[in-house]
Formats: sequence, structure tokens, C-alpha cells
Amino acid sequence: LKAKYLTAVADANGEAALEDLRISALGKKGEISALMATLGKMEPEARKAAGASLNALKDEIDAALRAKKSALADAALDERLRSEWLDVTLPGRPRRMGTIHPVSQVMEELTAIFADMGFSVAEGPQVESDWYNFDALNIPPEHPARQEHDTFFMHRATGDNRPPHVLRTHTSPVQIRAMAEQGAPIRVIAPGRVYRMDMDQTHTPMFHQVEGLAIDRDISMANLKWTLEEFCRAFFEVPSVELRFRASHFPFTEPSAEVDIRCSWEGGQLKIGQGDSWLEILGSGMVHPKVLSAAGVDPAQWQGFAFGMGIDRIAMLKYGIPDLRAFFESDLRWLRHYGFSA
Ligand code: PHE
Repeated sequence: LKAKYLTAVADANGEAALEDLRISALGKKGEISALMATLGKMEPEARKAAGASLNALKDEIDAALRAKKSALADAALDERLRSEWLDVTLPGRPRRMGTIHPVSQVMEELTAIFADMGFSVAEGPQVESDWYNFDALNIPPEHPARQEHDTFFMHRATGDNRPPHVLRTHTSPVQIRAMAEQGAPIRVIAPGRVYRMDMDQTHTPMFHQVEGLAIDRDISMANLKWTLEEFCRAFFEVPSVELRFRASHFPFTEPSAEVDIRCSWEGGQLKIGQGDSWLEILGSGMVHPKVLSAAGVDPAQWQGFAFGMGIDRIAMLKYGIPDLRAFFESDLRWLRHYGFSA
């Protein structure tokens, strides 16, 4: 019996096998326990001798089981140490860092340039009330300009009588909010997202604009022209730019102008500041007296200019990005190619 168990213990190859052996030898219904049970019927002398040798056998098997168990544990630990060995002197694996999206990069650049000219940043909500987006900007309910905006309307349940809201179609409502909050004089820019139902190579349903607003006692179109030229020189990093002011119409400015920048295409390469082409980059004008009044600013005392520029548009121009839609597709290859390191 002793030889049988000691051999089996030595041959056991895992904790489960050892446990089986322990049960079949020392368990309540095990072989040794069965032998122990026969002691009762023995003569006292014989019982004494048999009992002693059974106990010794029991202890021996028990000790062998324990020894084998700890040997197995040691072997397992050795194996783990071998397999999980780590060379801490190896050079680290390079991690790919995220990049700054061109739109974020351009927003930072233009905010810094306008900050140097004394403009601070104003904000407004992207879900905007009809009043701020249209009425206050001199676009009353039946005005044709409302159709041109391809507006996304927020749905209201029947019986919900709160004023109608839209996804803002331009950053111009921030003019109203900023003037109503800060009064005049004021110099702010308002970069942010705007929404229109439109989709092709140069239009996406969400895009970015930056609004500019400068109101004081005697601000004129000349100040607007200088501000925009100064901005374009700094932004496009060219010694000089040429801007073309084209008479236009916006309900919230009078007079109004759309502004183009002189550029050229040389071998598919866009150059700003020289050449025979013009690219439209913004709408602008002198803030309409009705707009000043709507924002609580007295048009008899204050006047100024406003402009709204397409951020994605100028990002495409500066960094030579051909397709606007790619800006918002989150393609990692595109982001790595056009993104900026932090
Ligand atoms: N809000 C106009 C647009 O989105 C741009 C603009 C802003 C024009 C400010 C004039 C003054 O087209």
C-alpha cells in the first residue's frame, strides 16, 4: 500500500491528481480509513501495533502529498518567471499620438491673430432660437433669405408652445447675443459650428464660420478692409494680399460686401496673394441699424462692421485640402496626413 501511494504521488502531474490521491488514500472512504475501521475488531496487542503502523503510513503519505504539492507549485512559479520574463532594457514601442484637426488648428490660429487686434471670443448656442438666428438679424418670418438658408428646424411636439428653434445657419446670432450682453463699444469674434441642408464637394451639412463684430463711435468700411487684409496677411503668411470687395446684400448689413482673395493655381498648387483668380472667403458689411436696435445698442450713437468667414474654406486654402467632406469623415489616414502634432 505504501509503495503504491508513494509511487503514485511521485508520478502525479498536477494539483487535481494529488487531491484525487489524497481522497482515495486518506479520505473518509479512503483505503487507509477503511483499514483503520478494522482496528476495532482486533485484539488489543495486535490493534496497538497495527494502529501505530497505520498512523505512520498515514503521516508518510500525507507528508509525501504535501511535499509533492509544494514541488509542483515551485515548478509552476519557475515556469511563470521564465515565460513572463521581461527585458526592461528594451527600447519602448512608439505610440501613435493623435493629431490636431485642421479646423481646430485654424480656429486657434485665427483666434490668436484677432486677439492681437483686440478682438475677444464670444459664444452662442448651436441650437438657436428663431429670433436670434433670423428676426433680430432683420430677417422677418416671410423674408426670402430664410429659404436660402436651408435651415434645419427643431421638432416640437404638438402643444409645445415654446418659441421655435433651429440649428443656427450662421454665426451671426452671436452678434446679437454679444451686443446684448456687453453693449457697445465691442470687438468680438465668434468661431463655431453652423448647419445647413447642403452636401457636395464644397458643402457639408455642418461647417464652421467665424463671425467678426466691431462697434464703436465711428467705425467704417475702411476699418473693415484694413482688419481683413491684416488678418489675411497674418493667416496666410504672405507679405501682401489683395482683397476684392463685391457689392452684395445681407439683411443684417448695409452696405454689404462679399470679399474675394486674389490667388493663383500653379501646377495644382494654390498661391495666395498673386495671380489672376479670385476666391470668395467671406460676407461682410456695416451692421444694420435695426440689428443694433434689436440688440439694445443705440444706432444714433454706435456703428460698426461685421463679417462672417468660412473657417473650413480658409483651412482648405491655407493647407491645400481639396475636398471639404473629408474634414468630417474621421478617416485616420486623412487625420494623420492633414492633422497637426500637439
Ligand atoms: N451670416 C452671413 C452668412 O452666413 C455672413 C455675414 C456675416 C455677412 C456678417 C455679413 C455680415 O452668409
